[in-house]
Amino acid sequence: MKILAIETSCDETAIAIAELHSGRGLTRMRSRTHADASTRVRVLSQDIASQVKIHAAYGGVVPNLARREHEKNLVPMLVVALTEAHLKNPKLQNIKPKQGVIADILTRETELLQKFKKSIMPLALPDIDAIAVTYGPGLAPALWTGVNFARALATLWDKPLIPVNHMAGHFFSAFLGKDRAEVPQFSISNFQFPILALLVSGGHTELVLVKKPWRFQIIGCTRDDAVGEAFDKVGRILGLPYPGGPEIARLAEKGNPSAYTLPRPMLHTKDYNFSFSGLKTAVLYLVRDIGKLTPQKKKGVAASFQAAAIEVLVKKTIRAAKEYKVSTLALGGGVAANTALRVALYAAIEKDVPATDFFIPDILLCGDNALMIATAAYFLQKKTPWQKIIAMPNLQLAKQ
Ligand code: KG4
Ligand code: ZN
Repeated sequence: MKILAIETSCDETAIAIAELHSGRGLTRMRSRTHADASTRVRVLSQDIASQVKIHAAYGGVVPNLARREHEKNLVPMLVVALTEAHLKNPKLQNIKPKQGVIADILTRETELLQKFKKSIMPLALPDIDAIAVTYGPGLAPALWTGVNFARALATLWDKPLIPVNHMAGHFFSAFLGKDRAEVPQFSISNFQFPILALLVSGGHTELVLVKKPWRFQIIGCTRDDAVGEAFDKVGRILGLPYPGGPEIARLAEKGNPSAYTLPRPMLHTKDYNFSFSGLKTAVLYLVRDIGKLTPQKKKGVAASFQAAAIEVLVKKTIRAAKEYKVSTLALGGGVAANTALRVALYAAIEKDVPATDFFIPDILLCGDNALMIATAAYFLQKKTPWQKIIAMPNLQLAKQ
């Protein structure tokens, strides 16, 4: 199955075309307690246009700026994707009958519509089986651009449209194991249920239990800031460029994690919820109280903050893994790129739940990308008439 996937939920415009095959049919696979090990994901094209530099000037993502950039990027990126995947057919097609309805779909995306008319509409039908698009959660203006673009494509090409939850994408990214470094091909590992996933990004911190395919149950989430958001805010407190996550991680490598005492919010509560806002405030007070912020002190603060955040994430995840007797643990989302978190979770699994399989995404698939959306679309297969697909900024994984 060839899937064209589109991701525009935040500040990355991403398009991927992937060919996915399973040894067994999907229907059979769904009725089993584990998926077939032979699922192959061949990447025909994959591209991400990051807007980080644009938003960095504002210290965070500006939704309407993100929308404008998506509008600018989508059409040229699709043309490149089709070319790379050898799916661009220069034969002209008669587009007159579809012009009206496409103009209606893209009525608010005027710049996108112009580009769409000029560069996409004349192309002959590409050999793909479905279009997948992220419809939530995320920033409304950003999501709408991708959703409307996908609706226009589904109409133009008469292809099924699969709406994908962004967090489901992060979930499936963990299972994409690279076959060989030099070939853009991945295999999906055996899913041994129950699975527990720690999904950590700029907007979310969730512990997700999946007892069977594909019932997502959120057993814990953050009460306030997401952990990625806390990294970004602490980055700002330390005067680091946006996004703070990778910057803190780099500084923390050279700092002493015990340099300062910081709280471990909700570490001992019986539930699986998190809270990172108080930790961020504690860093704010700490920085105010320790005087001139020398490079040495900065490293100590970064390392101490990171250690506090990771300790809570890891301990609660392991406790949930024990309680629910999971067979598989997965890590996903932008913060999954954090080496200290990967290492700490791995060590805790080895020590406390050694029989549990552990899956983490390839470092390049931790952040937002469209390959994870294509993969989630393949497994969830929620084909929906395009008229029914709308952007849902607060979409929850459990409602998938
Ligand atoms: O999943 P993602 O790319 O976008 C959202 O869906 O939010 O996650 C972005 C978040 C940002 O908060 C960023 O600072 C954080 O992931 N991040 C990291 C690291 N790399 C990215 N946080 C900690 N350590 C990292 N190495
Ligand atoms: Zn994300």
